[in-house]
Amino acid sequence: METRLQKVIADSGLVSRRKAEEWIAQGRVTVNGRVVRELGTKVDPEKDHVKVDGRHLKEVPPQVFLMLNKPKGYMSSLSDPAGRPTITDLLVGVGLRVFPVGRLDYDSEGLMLLTNQGEIAQALLHPRYHVAKTYLIKVKGVLTDEEIGALEKGVELEDGLTGPAVVKKIRKAKENSWVEITIHEGRKHQVKRMLETVGHPVIKLTRVRFGSLSLADLPRGHYRYLTDREANQLRALVRSRQEAVAASHASSRRVAPPTRPTPPARPARPARSARPARWAKLSRRRSA
Ligand code: URA
Repeated sequence: METRLQKVIADSGLVSRRKAEEWIAQGRVTVNGRVVRELGTKVDPEKDHVKVDGRHLKEVPPQVFLMLNKPKGYMSSLSDPAGRPTITDLLVGVGLRVFPVGRLDYDSEGLMLLTNQGEIAQALLHPRYHVAKTYLIKVKGVLTDEEIGALEKGVELEDGLTGPAVVKKIRKAKENSWVEITIHEGRKHQVKRMLETVGHPVIKLTRVRFGSLSLADLPRGHYRYLTDREANQLRALVRSRQEAVAASHASSRRVAPPTRPTPPARPARPARSARPARWAKLSRRRSA
């Protein structure tokens, strides 16, 4: 695909787009052996030889985002020590290494996002960023308005009170009913435990939305690559959450005077890996 020369240089991670424009204007960039000073020049990074100061640009692996409709009976991990079917069995033909963003239970189904972009995956999973996940659920019995109110306010689980949720009744059957629940956390078996707490065990659970993505009519067991628009929406979502968190940190630093004397400084600890442990484990395993 043809792309503006300055973008190709910036995407290689060498410099910013602005700096790349300066270099182009200074005659430091060649395309297929010829100096190019025209900023609007379009090149195809797959076919054209772009060099800066006589050196080839570094190859950057493409960013991959895909969504999978996981059926029940598959582990949402890439491998399983117990030998059960995993989502790897469904990702036939995906040439690059991708990792699942979050989990779904073995008996749950629905939307799973997979990517090779660790930073975006990590941000989407971080509870601080409150990315919404919506589940369509078949439960035993019919939820009362009080039970819905309790779920929306937060219910006490063994690992603490759940955050605010949105619960909608969808339809009722003879003995069971369907509800849609949107939460912003991702604790283990969270939705099942929430519904169990109000006396309505889950019979079936499908994740239908994740952040800005919708499962829509993707057939069960199939995957598809995100469109550019969808990938950009995810990037924008992460950016807006990062900005909101940074702004709230900045304002709490401005308004909250220390109420206790500041403790003596501790010796600096080495920085922990920015990746969640599971992600790091997967990365190590895949790259071993
Ligand atoms: N909550 C659950 O209980 N299970 C899932 O698979 C996802 C959310």
